[in-house]
Amino acid sequence: MQAILIGFMGSGKSSTAQLLSEQTNLKTYDLDKVIEDTIKMPISKYFNQYGENQFRKLENENLNKVIHLDGVLSTGGGTPINAEGFKTIQKSHCPTFYLDASDAVIENRIQKDKVNDRPLVEELGYSGLIELKNQRHSIYNKLADYVIKVDNLNKQQVVEHIIKIL
Ligand code: S3P
Repeated sequence: MQAILIGFMGSGKSSTAQLLSEQTNLKTYDLDKVIEDTIKMPISKYFNQYGENQFRKLENENLNKVIHLDGVLSTGGGTPINAEGFKTIQKSHCPTFYLDASDAVIENRIQKDKVNDRPLVEELGYSGLIELKNQRHSIYNKLADYVIKVDNLNKQQVVEHIIKIL
């Protein structure tokens, strides 16, 4: 990969990767979509049926499948949180961008999301979700080569920031 986007759900990884690919010649890989294409069902359904541990295995397998391809990878919020996913991203030596959004922005975006296909939202509720976000923050920071604070930037500005670095 030429760039990897990490960060909590709702931080804008997928839409930023999409816009970035429109403005560069880089192909986008959205790990959640890659997984859904493999299992032929929504992630939420898989999560409920097989549980989170099984999902993480599947996520790691798919991460390994795509990490050496050319393009921009938008990860799932939990991808770098398990040790294996973290190591895979770290060992790839691809420029890794942490899209860092505040609690309020994340909560707002997730609430606005009408089709909320996120199993952890259902499981943890909003306060649990924000707690999880704060637990993960240091891991995202540790893995990232670049941290982009996205609260006061629009998608285009985030993309320009990334393009300048690439
Ligand atoms: C998850 C985030 C989701 C998806 C799954 C688990 C997480 O991806 O992979 O629901 O553990 O944070 P997005 O960050 O793209 O919503």
